Amino acid sequence: MCGIVGYVGQEQAAPILLDGLSRLEYRGYDSAGVAVYDSTLGTLSVHKAKGRLNVLSQQLHGGADLHGTIGIGHTRWATHGAPSDVNSHPQVSRSGKIAVVHNGIIENYAELKSFLISQGIPFTSETDTEVIAQLIEYFYDGDLLSAVGRVLHRIQGAYALGILCDDCPDKLIAVRKDSPLILGYGEGCSFLASDVTAILRHTRKVSYMEDGELAVLTQDSIQCYNHLMQPVDKEIVQVDWEMDAAEKGGYEHFMFKEIMEQPQALRRCISPRIREGEVVFEDFHLDPQYIRDLQKIYIVACGSSYHVGMVGKYQLEKLTRKPVEVALASEFRYMDPIVNEHTLVVVISQSGETLDTMAALREARRLGGKILSIVNVVGSSIARESDQVLYTWAGPEIAVATTKAYSTQLAVICLLALYFARVLGTVEDGEYRSCLEDLLRLPDQVEQVLSQKDHIQYFASQYFNHDSVFFIGRNIDYAMGLEGSLKLKEISYIHSEAYASGELKHGTISLIEPGTLVVALGTCKRLFQKAMSNVVEVKSRGADVLALTTESCRKEMEGTASAVMTIPDARELVLPCLSVVPLQLFAYYVALMRGCDIDKPRNLAKSVTVE
Ligand code: M6R
Repeated sequence: MCGIVGYVGQEQAAPILLDGLSRLEYRGYDSAGVAVYDSTLGTLSVHKAKGRLNVLSQQLHGGADLHGTIGIGHTRWATHGAPSDVNSHPQVSRSGKIAVVHNGIIENYAELKSFLISQGIPFTSETDTEVIAQLIEYFYDGDLLSAVGRVLHRIQGAYALGILCDDCPDKLIAVRKDSPLILGYGEGCSFLASDVTAILRHTRKVSYMEDGELAVLTQDSIQCYNHLMQPVDKEIVQVDWEMDAAEKGGYEHFMFKEIMEQPQALRRCISPRIREGEVVFEDFHLDPQYIRDLQKIYIVACGSSYHVGMVGKYQLEKLTRKPVEVALASEFRYMDPIVNEHTLVVVISQSGETLDTMAALREARRLGGKILSIVNVVGSSIARESDQVLYTWAGPEIAVATTKAYSTQLAVICLLALYFARVLGTVEDGEYRSCLEDLLRLPDQVEQVLSQKDHIQYFASQYFNHDSVFFIGRNIDYAMGLEGSLKLKEISYIHSEAYASGELKHGTISLIEPGTLVVALGTCKRLFQKAMSNVVEVKSRGADVLALTTESCRKEMEGTASAVMTIPDARELVLPCLSVVPLQLFAYYVALMRGCDIDKPRNLAKSVTVE
């Protein structure tokens, strides 16, 4: 979950590294560090600090205090060893000759550490990463590449590494296994980074490292090798993300900016895929006979992406009449799933790097399933390991709490359900066309919901002091309640739970007492009267009810609930893309009023690359 960056070129490295790290801070933000080779001193200069990156940046005066044109940097999300200066990366070998930045976990580090200690090598940190630096030095006999190769044969786990040695001050070494790493090709400079946003300011030409690959970077070239140390030619791709997409652009928080960007993101995701009244997926090839022969669709994902899967189940089953099972990716490989060649496994991931989701993908493939992924980050590991990919095209999402990636995932699921239904003949022509029209109208409707943000801010000001919040709803409203609840707890730290409304009477209602806040979702027309009954039930036990319903039901709801948020009336298929917006805004404003660090909530990271 940490962010790593490396630079070799002709300019001063430290400001470039610090700038790159500032764009990777969403990956981890409990400490940061850089190592730069200082050619005047002939040594590595290493600086690390606990806390946010700006602590380090201030100490180094934005990098002006460090001189050298090659270096590596790191922003940390602690796994082994508490956040502290000493546990921050880069970790260095005993002599200070070798510096390493690492994202991932070395599973056999304890055993390796004992071995090195038995050889008289002292350790200064509690990290697994120090083992790598010490082990490289242990094997080093003047040939850095061969020492790194020997270390790679001994370490187990997941890692993306950036390595710098003061004997080779013109070279960086990059290594990747199960943690993302990209290489950047600049004019007279080269980069390594966890994510393209770190280097977008300098180059758009990148290549994606594969598992087991190692690369040697100099200012003029990048040479990649496979696990057998045979040279590999990498495809260089052009990244088309705009630089300002990864900037705050005048907004106070990335999360708010990304909420407000949803209409454009949805347009980008939907419009090119509806042509002449048909859903068109370019670069997507599933044989119609394969779709007809499908016995089951599995959806696997984590967190918010899993919530998209829940909505997807309702939509896919309704439109295609194929059975759909949704599984948490973190559970999938432990549940002995029933997957065969007639199972399509739909993997959903914004980052395309979530380790549990990747492990589920591999398990599904092992069992014979075909993998279709829905991913935002182009070229990410999950995208590359899938048989088919549908990109969400939401643009870079920086805030830890997902918003625009979530709503575009929902849109892709709608398109997919319609596409399959068309192939299977399970949707009537008229219905199909109206669904497509509604999808095309969706970005404008989301704009309409966003224009009510001041009302939602007002409701947030009424309720931000509550300690505990329940979200209730049925069917898609239940799935949306789960997402609303996750958004709220994630960024505001308010305890919150979502329940299927019908379950209230089976236990949860005992928690309702005067003043408890209940967010009641009742957007689904056919279930509106049921939603009303549940509102009455909790209201009569003293709850404060903030309801979310459609315009046409507002009046009826207003008579019962304490406050009402609305979305435009729409077909069930697209309702979730609308109902999520007030929930995102509510969570955002509540967190803002509670003074929380919205873009970087405690203990979390954007990309969860550890199990
Ligand atoms: O990148 P992914 O979609 O695979 O991430 C999955 C979850 O970690 C993610 O959705 C998480 O729950 C979000 N922070 C929620 O806002």
